[in-house]
Amino acid sequence: MSTLLVAYRASDLFERGRHGAKRSSSLLNGDTTCHVLDIYQRHAIEKTHHAKVVCSPHLPDGPWDEIHFKTGPKLMSGELSLDLLQEISRLLGGDLKPPRFTLDFEGKERDRNALLEKVVGDPGRVRDFSAKWRTSVPGIEPIELTSFPGCFCHRRPDDGGLALAEVVSRELSALESRPETLNLLDMGCGCGLVGFLVASAVKGVNLVMVDSHSRAVEAATLNSNNLGISAEIILADNGTPERMDGTFDIFVGNPPYYSDYRIAEVFLETAKRALKPGGVCYTVVKNDAGLRPVQERFFPSVEVIHRRGYCVLKSLNRA
Ligand SMILES: C[S@@+](CC[C@H](N)C(=O)[O-])C[C@H]1O[C@@H](n2cnc3c(N)ncnc32)[C@H](O)[C@@H]1O
Repeated sequence: MSTLLVAYRASDLFERGRHGAKRSSSLLNGDTTCHVLDIYQRHAIEKTHHAKVVCSPHLPDGPWDEIHFKTGPKLMSGELSLDLLQEISRLLGGDLKPPRFTLDFEGKERDRNALLEKVVGDPGRVRDFSAKWRTSVPGIEPIELTSFPGCFCHRRPDDGGLALAEVVSRELSALESRPETLNLLDMGCGCGLVGFLVASAVKGVNLVMVDSHSRAVEAATLNSNNLGISAEIILADNGTPERMDGTFDIFVGNPPYYSDYRIAEVFLETAKRALKPGGVCYTVVKNDAGLRPVQERFFPSVEVIHRRGYCVLKSLNRA
C-alpha cells in the first residue's frame, strides 16, 4: 500500500503509545513517503523519524493508494491549500474521499468543507495560482517576476525586500572604484526580488541565490531564465557550500523573523562565512531593535539606513 503524506511537519508525526510513550505515527508504517516544500522540514523529519521524504515544488507522481493532507489557515495560505488539493485530486483521479483521501484540517469545520467543495464541487476547473507582476527600483525599467503560492513574495513585491534592493542598488551604483564584477549572495531569495533588481540596476553583478523553499527555487530559476540574468540558485537551509566561503563582495538577506531571530542568525552566520574581507552585509527588518544586537555578534559595527518604513542594517566584514 503506497501512502503519500502531504505537508506534515516532524511534530505532526508523533502519537502516544499504550503507556503514553511518544512514538512515530503509524502513518509512517509501510510504504509511506512524506512530501514537504521546504528542505528545513525534510531535515526535521529525517532527524526525528525513520521516513522517506521528498522535498520538491510539486507532489511526486506516485501511483498512490492513499494520500493524507495536513493543512489549515494557520499552517498555509488558502491559495497554497487549494493548489496542493488540486494536485492531490489529479493524482487520485478526482477521488477525494476516504479511504483514499484524508483531509487532516486544523481549523473550523466550515472552512474545511469550503476548501474541499472548491475542488470536489467543480472537478473540471483547474486554477492557475501563479502570478506575474512588475517591480522596479529608481533608475531602471520595471522587471517582470513570476511567483507561486508558498513562495515569498507572491503576487506583489514585499516592501522590506524593495527597501533592501533600493539601498543596495543605490550604494553599489555610487561606488567610485569597484572591481569589474561583484559577487552577490542573496540568501532567502524567494522568487528573486532583491537579487534580480540589484543585478538589473548595477552592471557586473554575479548572482548566487539560496532558499530553503523548493517553490522559491522554482520561481527564482524561472525568473532567471525569463530575465536573461544568470544566477546559481541553491536549495539549502544552512547557507552556501563551503567552496563559496570568502568569495562574496556583497550579502543581502531579508530573513523571516518568526522563531526569535534563529533564522536571522543562520543568515548572518552565512554572511560572515561567505563574505570576503572588506565585503558588505545588508539585512532588512521593520524595526532594528531586535536584529541589531544579533548582527553585532557577527560584525563589529552596524549602520542603520531607513527606507520605506524599514531599517536596512549594513555591516562591513573587517578582515
Ligand atoms: C521574508 S522572505 C524574503 C524573500 C525575498 N528575499 C524578498 O525580499 O522578497 C524570507 C525567505 O527566506 C527563506 N528562508 C527561510 N529560512 C531559510 C534558511 N534557513 N535558508 C535559506 N532561506 C530561508 C524563506 O523560504 C523565504 O523565501
